[in-house]
Amino acid sequence: MNQDMIVLVQKSFRDVAPIADTVGATFYARLFETHPEVRPMFPEDIRPQARKLVQMLAMVVNGLHRLHAIQPEVEALARRHKDYGVADAHYPVVGETLIWTLEHHLGDAFTPQVRGAWLDAFTSLAQLMIGASHDAVHASGADSDSRADRSNHDAQHGY
Ligand code: HEM
Repeated sequence: MNQDMIVLVQKSFRDVAPIADTVGATFYARLFETHPEVRPMFPEDIRPQARKLVQMLAMVVNGLHRLHAIQPEVEALARRHKDYGVADAHYPVVGETLIWTLEHHLGDAFTPQVRGAWLDAFTSLAQLMIGASHDAVHASGADSDSRADRSNHDAQHGY
């Protein structure tokens, strides 16, 4: 991502920050409407989760110009997501839902340039997370007990 794209993402995120709770609610409503199969992965009350998602996005958006500095947090997030049963194929689903949500709330301000910049930002984040979740498999593969645990987990989730 170049500096101009980073500024576009940061500026548009500032525009939705005052309505962060609404944005979180729209995001999950859309996600569960278009992908009902992921609903059981989340708790019944989605409001605390919606807030956490927006807070984490804020951290990533603010850190876009120095992704390497927030890499440890992103990697830890990715490892937790593996434990939640999140698979690689879920990331584009969440990316599409996020873009839809931002467009919904930003309206005309969500120009093709802003969309392109967000797509780029989300893709960078998703790649980091997917890479880290795969590394986590290799890292824990050194430990025979956790490997056995993982096989059970993988069998349950079908991947
Ligand atoms: C790529 C961007 C994503 C970000 C920034 C993000 C952020 C978060 C955050 C901050 C949490 C709170 C718990 C924690 O920190 O571990 C969380 C939990 C969770 N996320 Fe994500 N997430 C992302 C992608 C995904 C994807 C692709 C899925 C798949 C559907 C997903 C499913 C979940 C689930 C199931 C939980 C746990 C809910 C619970 O049991 O409380 N997330 N996410």
